[in-house]
Amino acid sequence: MGRRTVRIAMNGVTGRMGYRQHLVRSVLALREQGGLDLGGGETLWPEPVLVGRREHALKEIAGRHGLTEWSTDLDAVLADDTVEIYFDAQVTSARVEAVRKAVAAGKHIYAEKPTATDLDGALDLARRANAAGVKHGVVQDKVFLPGLLKLKRLIDGGFFGRILSVRGEFGYWVFEGDWQEAQRPSWNYRAQDGGGITVDMFPHWEYVLHDLFGRVTSVQAHVATHIPQRVDEQGRTYEATADDAAYGIFQLEGGAVAQINSSWAVRVNRDELVEFQVDGTHGSAVAGLRTCRAQHRGTTPKPVWNPDLPATYDFRAQWQEVPDNTEFDNGFKAEWELFLRHVALDEPFAWDLLAGARGVQLAQLGLRSHAEGRRLDVPELTL
Ligand SMILES: NC(=O)c1ccc[n+]([C@@H]2O[C@H](COP(=O)([O-])OP(=O)(O)OC[C@H]3O[C@@H](n4cnc5c(N)ncnc54)[C@H](O)[C@@H]3O)[C@@H](O)[C@H]2O)c1
Repeated sequence: MGRRTVRIAMNGVTGRMGYRQHLVRSVLALREQGGLDLGGGETLWPEPVLVGRREHALKEIAGRHGLTEWSTDLDAVLADDTVEIYFDAQVTSARVEAVRKAVAAGKHIYAEKPTATDLDGALDLARRANAAGVKHGVVQDKVFLPGLLKLKRLIDGGFFGRILSVRGEFGYWVFEGDWQEAQRPSWNYRAQDGGGITVDMFPHWEYVLHDLFGRVTSVQAHVATHIPQRVDEQGRTYEATADDAAYGIFQLEGGAVAQINSSWAVRVNRDELVEFQVDGTHGSAVAGLRTCRAQHRGTTPKPVWNPDLPATYDFRAQWQEVPDNTEFDNGFKAEWELFLRHVALDEPFAWDLLAGARGVQLAQLGLRSHAEGRRLDVPELTL
């Protein structure tokens, strides 16, 4: 009975994801709702300790949200025995070193994806965390999106019959930074800084495909840098050394095939920034971030190819909205809650550092598939 505090070192909270999704929309949102209800009259109260490199930025964020604990000294925070969890949303290239330190200090680990820039680094983190006996988790937020939760409901309800294929379209135009500011950080476009859309997005596609349809067994990718020069936050022109588009084909355990285009050099002509169309023998569905529309075999029209006549069907109108039937919380917060329950109550948690390593593996093999111009098997990872 009562309130139990869990102190969480949060590194990278000055960044886009660390601040908005993890600090404000997850940890502070949990505090706004009175803490996490653990059942039996017990509540878990998350106490963030902000960690970063820029003192003034941390101080400003702490002040804005009435927080009192912040530090630019990661080692000192990790040496504090009252801190139980280390969370990392730094740039990807800084992750491995910091997480290793946190594991050595005996902290439970929760980290953004990708967990490392290469598979060896990602597996090493998983091995170290297991050896140290700490709990660990990786942000895999897309499977908590309302659209994908509704899609999962259709799958679990047997709506599709045999699933044949999945087609994903992800992307939007990221401004080059010259005449309009880029809406993503410039390190995303420099390979030497851990950037690249394959490294960024294939980890997401790995767990989306794995959790919903089956493990990825092979990958074939074509990768491109469509925009070779961009302008950074300081107005300096730089060479984009990382890929800004990746066109992937993934074979899945169970026989379905997935084809996903990811691009920061495409203009949106869809309802959402990401959409997946799933076609099965008994039905099809299109899921985005929030919505999911379905068409059953019984309501499937029978168009006939005739380019001489104007289209007679309003194809989009022939799909039915899948109802929410529940309230969906922010996906990042939903996963935080599960991870905190894992730490506090030892409840199971599926998305650990080994799952994170699978994402890094798929990104690495995707890039290799492009470089070698061939399809590659994706071996099952073990520790
Ligand atoms: N789950 C998701 O949907 C999702 C979406 C975007 C990004 N991410 C991941 O989150 C992480 C952060 O991405 P972001 O978009 O918030 O980046 P960002 O550039 O906005 O933030 C990066 C953070 O890392 C810190 N940092 C530490 N060392 C640094 C260094 N050497 N150079 C620059 N910054 C440094 C910065 O101070 C800042 O707090 C990345 O690993 C990225 O892959 C995840």
